[in-house]
Amino acid sequence: MAYFYFKLHRIQRMATPIQIFDTTLRDGEQVPGCKLNQEQKLVIAEALDFLGVDVIEAGFPISSPGDFASVEAIAKLVKNATVCGLSRSVMKDIECAAQAVKHAKKPRIHTGIGTSDMHIKYKFNSNREDIIERAVAAVKYAKSFVEDVEFYAEDAGRTDNEYLAKVCSAVIKAGATVLNIPDTTGYCLPSEYGDKINYLYENVVGIDKAILSTHCHNDLGLATANSIAGVMNGARQVEVTINGIGERAGNTALEEVVMILKHRLGDQFTTGINTKQLNQVSRLVSDSMAMPVQPNKAIVGDNAFAHSSGIHQDGVIKNRANYEIIDPREVGVDKSSIVLTARSGRAALAYRAKEVGYNLFKDELDIAYNEFINLADKKKEVNSEDLNYMLSNLFKATA
Ligand code: KIV
Ligand code: ZN
Repeated sequence: MAYFYFKLHRIQRMATPIQIFDTTLRDGEQVPGCKLNQEQKLVIAEALDFLGVDVIEAGFPISSPGDFASVEAIAKLVKNATVCGLSRSVMKDIECAAQAVKHAKKPRIHTGIGTSDMHIKYKFNSNREDIIERAVAAVKYAKSFVEDVEFYAEDAGRTDNEYLAKVCSAVIKAGATVLNIPDTTGYCLPSEYGDKINYLYENVVGIDKAILSTHCHNDLGLATANSIAGVMNGARQVEVTINGIGERAGNTALEEVVMILKHRLGDQFTTGINTKQLNQVSRLVSDSMAMPVQPNKAIVGDNAFAHSSGIHQDGVIKNRANYEIIDPREVGVDKSSIVLTARSGRAALAYRAKEVGYNLFKDELDIAYNEFINLADKKKEVNSEDLNYMLSNLFKATA
């Protein structure tokens, strides 16, 4: 009996796996001026597979012959992840997506339609009942090609919850395995989005046959917070892009969600992502798309592990954890950097001097500091070369 309770306790405490659905090559690639050629897409797809994402949304096959060819090539290449192609709830789109992913080890068709009253009226000039019929027909048709069919309710963020639950119940009955609940316009507050997922979890008929997925846009800077609220309320898949690239203000950033789940919610959730690859994959995507990452971007920005004010530098030198919640090596960054500026103090100067070969005694440090602060006032940042030059004029190397 005691053994049984021990096992039960262990089972209850096991972290729930969260599927990472990467849409860098579809929603991310829609960014103006960011066209990737097929070769670049294949390199990125391989890197995503190696990173450990569960699903790669490779493109929107009907959109162009080039996109079709890329999705097809990715489907043939990818070894582990599910490869997914997007379609509208239009039969020829679905056929095209099915053709494009048919060689994948694990193929998925992602089909859907707008469900908010705004989309129903102004995009489709239709009504709620007709939209449910179209959604069901699309899922059934997709299901005739593949087992794994994901349905998206576009603009779910602004869709009435009761109606959304009806749509979701109908498409599950038609065979949908994943229900994507996009906050297409980045409209929701985290509490609203979390409540929406919770409402669906509680009210969708047959929810045990499908999983709920988040897909959040960043128009109000809330994409990551909304995705996490979704997970905490029952979503088991999160749709993300590397560096948060995507339409307008972008999509939820993969690296942010993964590190939040690992660091703050690791007792409840787990992902298959090898976080040590995050920095490298971020650079690959940024270089391939010629989309620089903002320096202060969480996790992968150049300044994410850089310290420039004297108080912080002193704290980090004493113990990195004073000012860092993540060890940079965990995300593939060699080490924290101490940047020398006019705000730096003696501790930072001594630390960087040691790195370039000068182990300074207290009186030497005082002399060096006077010289350094004048130089730092003239230059924005004193780099290793400047420092070496300055110190070699003052002292001989002591280390
Ligand atoms: O933001 C959105 O609603 C989408 C869907 C097409 C999934 O990208
Ligand atoms: Zn989107």
